[in-house]
Amino acid sequence: MDIINLRRSIRRYKDQPVEQEKIEKLLRAAMQAPSAANQQPWEFIVVQDEKYLKKLSEISAYSKMVAEAPLAIVLIGNEDRMRLKLHWEQDMAAATQNILLESAYLGLGAVWLGVAPMEDRMKLISEIFGLKDRLKPFCVIPIGYPGEGQENKFVDRFDSSRIHYETYNS
Ligand SMILES: Cc1cc2nc3c(=O)[nH]c(=O)nc-3n(C[C@H](O)[C@H](O)[C@H](O)COP(=O)(O)O)c2cc1C
Repeated sequence: MDIINLRRSIRRYKDQPVEQEKIEKLLRAAMQAPSAANQQPWEFIVVQDEKYLKKLSEISAYSKMVAEAPLAIVLIGNEDRMRLKLHWEQDMAAATQNILLESAYLGLGAVWLGVAPMEDRMKLISEIFGLKDRLKPFCVIPIGYPGEGQENKFVDRFDSSRIHYETYNS
């Protein structure tokens, strides 16, 4: 799939909103992800209000770009839906990757900002949105049309030394 090769982390965005139909496509892509026992623990906060984008940009030293993005999606795991609790982060990661790939497919740019399992970042997001304890912030994805000098483009990372056939050859 070409889009897997083209996707890059995009951290600067044009001053241009993301259309509602594209936002819905991103969320549909997220919800198509595999999950343990099909538990689908995810929920999504779609953020376009500058006030909340600014607050999200302050959750770590590496999330400043959120303040300049027209859109961010906050991924939340709902504990009530976690039958296999140990797997929730893997489920959420699969949904996250689907959003990143769909973004690139739609001509948008996005970047995964890690939140869980870092308690301090999870707490900050819970405070911003007043989340109850059972709602676990997983990551933040700022999204927009790629800005100056930013594009989804192929970087070859294939490394045959990482591959082992039948057994581990050290
Ligand atoms: C779990 C995780 C957390 C990440 N957190 C951040 C982050 O806080 N800020 C950031 O700018 N990029 C973050 N990234 C993006 C990585 O830096 C990026 O994926 C990596 O440098 C490879 O570049 P690429 O996405 O363009 O292939 C994160 C990626 C992952 C998977």
